[in-house]
Amino acid sequence: MPSPYSLGIHSQAFISANLERSTRFMVDDLGLRLVKRTVHPHDERIAVAHFGFADGGTDQIVTYYEWNPIFYEFPADGFVDQETTKASLDDPQAGSPHGRWGAGTNHHLALHTDSREQLLNWKRHLSDRGFHVTGPYFRNYFSAIYFNDPDGAIFEIATTEPGFGHDEAVLGSDYMKPPEEAVDRKERDIAAEVASEPHADISAEMALRGFHHNTSVSSDIEAVTDFFVNRVGVDLIKMTDYLDAADATHYYYSATQEPRPGHVLTYFGFPGYPAGRLGVGLSHHIALTARDEEALAEWRKALAGAEIEVGEIEDERYFSSVSFRDPDGHLYRIATPPYFTIDEAAGELGQKLCLPSELESRRGEIEESLRLRPAPTPRRTAAA
Ligand SMILES: [Fe+2]
Repeated sequence: MPSPYSLGIHSQAFISANLERSTRFMVDDLGLRLVKRTVHPHDERIAVAHFGFADGGTDQIVTYYEWNPIFYEFPADGFVDQETTKASLDDPQAGSPHGRWGAGTNHHLALHTDSREQLLNWKRHLSDRGFHVTGPYFRNYFSAIYFNDPDGAIFEIATTEPGFGHDEAVLGSDYMKPPEEAVDRKERDIAAEVASEPHADISAEMALRGFHHNTSVSSDIEAVTDFFVNRVGVDLIKMTDYLDAADATHYYYSATQEPRPGHVLTYFGFPGYPAGRLGVGLSHHIALTARDEEALAEWRKALAGAEIEVGEIEDERYFSSVSFRDPDGHLYRIATPPYFTIDEAAGELGQKLCLPSELESRRGEIEESLRLRPAPTPRRTAAA
């Protein structure tokens, strides 16, 4: 039951301990564009930055939320609605803010480059900037390198070729055992493989094209498949082994009827794997794109009709969205394309802190507090 409404992956939001540092990673290291600096629609104490790709479009967005305190856990449920977000900021729980991937969390985001040659250029570019980069690994459907953002979130860059269609005529129809060259890795040779010339600048050929895929973790891959294919309405396009661990599977789903980079969600299936923990250095949620407000409303109705617990349509200022969770509890959204030009001209995106009109009178105070990035204030006594 392919969904008639999805246009692919809309955005992926990560949790950062320091938004300025994450911005340097996105812009200086990866060549994305800062397209909006703002505060979270649930609570102005949370700083937010949105990034678009070099092509100038804003149909695919990487978002960072800042969770700055070092002594407080990130809210276990994330920022799901205004009430729980405010409550978690008013009454933060002592503990480590760091996330840990596991069942019910994302594992990594893969960005897209054209060719293996560009992948090797990226490896050189990032290595020269001090990143620990592994790969290029041959993943049967693409080649890929891996590295971490400054908070530890796993990022990948993956190639177009050879694509998903080279080993089966009907995608997702059979369980595909990976070829020997993807399994038997010559780690020393792989580690040594890198562009011989420096690539300090990101050339037009190197520039990242957008998302390639993202990968989450499930303790029950069949339950995830039933959920996404039969209830959310995406297509299963590949069933294969997870190449980095024995006894684990890797399933791929296409959010549109065209299974190509930018439209693909994947899951590692680790039977019985323990739950992860949301926090700094991990993704907060993934969003899929609905064509417009009307399509979003239709899709919400379809999800509710499939007995998925789905939230009301929320106005997130730059898009409308609905939220739901996968069977392991991983948060998803469906969102309209962003309207980033409502408060900045198209040529000036990301240049100022954008606040909703009701917060403009408090701009000085909010800018000062974001500059200082204070920890949330516990109000346990007041709340009691
Ligand atoms: Fe991946």
